[in-house]
Amino acid sequence: MRTEQPKVIHLKDYQAPDYLIDETHLTFELYEDRTLVHARLAMQRNDAAASSALPPLLLHGQELELLSLSLDGRPLGLGDYQIDENSLSLQPDAASFVLESTVCIHPETNTALEGLYKSGKMFCTQCEAEGFRKITYYLDRPDVMSSFTTTVKADQQRYPILLSNGNPVASGSEDDGRHWATWEDPFKKPAYLFALVAGDLWCVEDSFTTMSGREVALRIYVEPENIDKCQHAMDSLKRSMRWDEQVYGREYDLDIFMIVAVNDFNMGAMENKGLNIFNSSAVLARAETATDAAHQRVEAIVAHEYFHNWSGNRVTCRDWFQLSLKEGFTVFRDAGFSSDMNSATVKRIEDVAYLRTHQFAEDAGPMAHPVRPDSFIEISNFYTLTVYEKGAEVVRMIQTLLGEEGFRKGSDLYFERHDGQAVTCDDFVKAMEDATGADLQQFKRWYSQAGTPRLAVSEAYDPSTQRYSLTFRQSCPPTPGQAEKLPFVIPVKLGLLDSQGREIPLRLVGEGAAVGTDRVISVTDAEQCFTFVDTPEQPLPSLLRGFSAPVKLDFPYSRDQLMYLMQHDSDGFNRWEAGQQLSVQVLRELIDQQQRGEAMSVDQRLISALGSVLDNDRLDQAMVAEMLSLPGEAYLIEISEVADVDAIHAAREHARRCIAEALFEPLWRRYQANRELSRQTPYVAQSEHFARRALQNIALSYLMLSERREVLAACQEQFETADNMTERLTAMAVMVNSPFEAERSAALATFAEAFKDDPLVMDQWFSVQAGSAMPGGLERVHHLMRHAAFTIKNPNKVRAVIGAFANQNHVNFHALDGSGYRFLADQIIMLNALNPQIASRLLTPLTRWRKYDDARQALMRGELERVLASGELSSDVFEVVSKSLA
Ligand code: PHE
Ligand code: ZN
Repeated sequence: MRTEQPKVIHLKDYQAPDYLIDETHLTFELYEDRTLVHARLAMQRNDAAASSALPPLLLHGQELELLSLSLDGRPLGLGDYQIDENSLSLQPDAASFVLESTVCIHPETNTALEGLYKSGKMFCTQCEAEGFRKITYYLDRPDVMSSFTTTVKADQQRYPILLSNGNPVASGSEDDGRHWATWEDPFKKPAYLFALVAGDLWCVEDSFTTMSGREVALRIYVEPENIDKCQHAMDSLKRSMRWDEQVYGREYDLDIFMIVAVNDFNMGAMENKGLNIFNSSAVLARAETATDAAHQRVEAIVAHEYFHNWSGNRVTCRDWFQLSLKEGFTVFRDAGFSSDMNSATVKRIEDVAYLRTHQFAEDAGPMAHPVRPDSFIEISNFYTLTVYEKGAEVVRMIQTLLGEEGFRKGSDLYFERHDGQAVTCDDFVKAMEDATGADLQQFKRWYSQAGTPRLAVSEAYDPSTQRYSLTFRQSCPPTPGQAEKLPFVIPVKLGLLDSQGREIPLRLVGEGAAVGTDRVISVTDAEQCFTFVDTPEQPLPSLLRGFSAPVKLDFPYSRDQLMYLMQHDSDGFNRWEAGQQLSVQVLRELIDQQQRGEAMSVDQRLISALGSVLDNDRLDQAMVAEMLSLPGEAYLIEISEVADVDAIHAAREHARRCIAEALFEPLWRRYQANRELSRQTPYVAQSEHFARRALQNIALSYLMLSERREVLAACQEQFETADNMTERLTAMAVMVNSPFEAERSAALATFAEAFKDDPLVMDQWFSVQAGSAMPGGLERVHHLMRHAAFTIKNPNKVRAVIGAFANQNHVNFHALDGSGYRFLADQIIMLNALNPQIASRLLTPLTRWRKYDDARQALMRGELERVLASGELSSDVFEVVSKSLA
């Protein structure tokens, strides 16, 4: 908890550490009412050759009770060192020495879930970013890398399994019912990758033979009741290991790789060396309890954490400003894996929709920051969509510019050159340059400038010369601390379509011959014109294919042109994108009509375009499902100047009803065909099955809007007899959002009774209700928070109820009486004391106050001010609230 004014940390102040730690030897004695941590650190001055006086040694440490301290075996007394809330300092008298300490800590009362804590009956750790300092006095910074030997001692009955990083080297029992195990991690690592687990766990075991023929033991540890939910994660792990060998040439390095599932976890998962710790929601999955989306999320997160073994662990970050070095790159890697395992186009669509909805909003708000931030108060606040998702887009653009082969050369050089080091984003870019000869200096502005660039494009065609020109104008709005921006390098992948739907060969002025029909041009100036020759007719451009850069593209397409692209574009992503843009135009018109108090009338062209998509049985069903999904309310809010949540909701619902009515027959046909297949085929977590169920479920959600009895009956049949959660949950969700009150209550009750003992399933039950736009949202949320399965101490529950309400239930959260805002602020004030990271994340919707009308702005600001004045704030909450009000 913060007691003084929080310090702002700046990248420009980075200094190499004065001391290094060669070896770390830890012993943990775990008890129910305290834990003792003994640390023996073999240290030396960083610059061993230096002849200047030895600098003082400053170790990080928080919430530690020091029991003993010695230097080279000599006990130190009170006058020999200084301690404050965050550190311990002393004056060494030799350039290399051994420092030993014993501290007492209290995992049993640690509700922040950082450092060593208890999740249910087990002990576990979370050290990234700066949690290790809550375990022992240490140089808790990523550029201090050490080998670790860890001994864990605990009661044998309660904690039969004792784990840490690396390989197990010894174990034994003692007479008093306690036992111990020692683990050795030979790879030097920063403290943020340290992990320890002790509990009564079962495990699923498998093995993997690496490309050089070494056998690696694989284990997934869970609490006994979850042992039947590990197979999907294990299969995903093996696929990830093979993929990283094949696509990046990266082999696993230890003899054992472990994953542990814990119920109480602030994030998705953590890449601790050889011992990944996962939020149980990111590991456990089986047909009956987890949806298709959850299965895909497990596959992606298992891969993400595994890939960190190279992009993060073998090569780590010099300091936390470089976080995107490991996160942006690793998200890029896991996206490549997911697109190879499933439909690549659908994966891209999902990622782009997510980025444009959430990261673009962050980039336009008070917390906007560059992919490599230049200052922060609390690093935990910078595990953001910008660092992760935009960071991945930046790596993707490098690949687009260098080509796949060049990019692979660059990544090989990066891993080889920096293995065992803690490096910067500059080192990453330098490896890409050195391996290919490319010049990425201007490109690097993507790392240092915040904000989403806007790219406005205009065209000109001259039939007499057969020349077609595209003029690009880029600009980037100001963001906090950055009023003016310099031009970015924007790779634009494009094609030109003729009136027969064919692609025109692309030859720029000055080029000897056409270079294909689909190519990448680099926009590097504020304004730049590209002229194509040999263009026999006025073409229709297909721009930014595959979303080749994270920008807001602006080209004045007519609705007919968008419909043409939906049909003819050879780029699957852009066919979807054309449909989205058409929907946005139509929805904006409805929003205007609603605001003017006129009757809403949906442009029939949208309906007929969706009708032809539905009638086309040759299209990938997952694509059909994506094309049928209208842009979400959150995205419509993001692209509004001033967001009118009520009008947005009314317009979107009206459009959905019109679509459902006009296309009832084809929707019903496709629903029934797919439901029949679902009945006949046992659940499989594979791409074409995901596709079939996705179309079936979106069809059902439209069909229910008709309020026809036969649809309700089908929905109930699906709810009651489905063999999997994907079908069951959708059926329940559409009932929850329907006017069939009795059926809705019955379904909710049946579901809760069946799954009351499965917390992850109950999370889904909570969020369907908390996220429902039906009237009375806040009362529903209060009611849910009194349910026996709810607890404010579990982050997944907080996200499922409070998070779903504030982030997905726009009409209820933004109620004009301010009740939603007041409720959220109350929860944040309470969580500030319990779990600052979760409290800080919950603030996000309030930080977006500038998006709304004056009345709501005042209410939202008022709640932020109330949080600010509520007492002793954590640095996490303080930073977000103060920046939001600035
Ligand atoms: N490094 C983790 C990941 O992205 C995320 C994480 C950060 C987890 C901080 C816990 C705490 O894989
Ligand atoms: Zn990560």
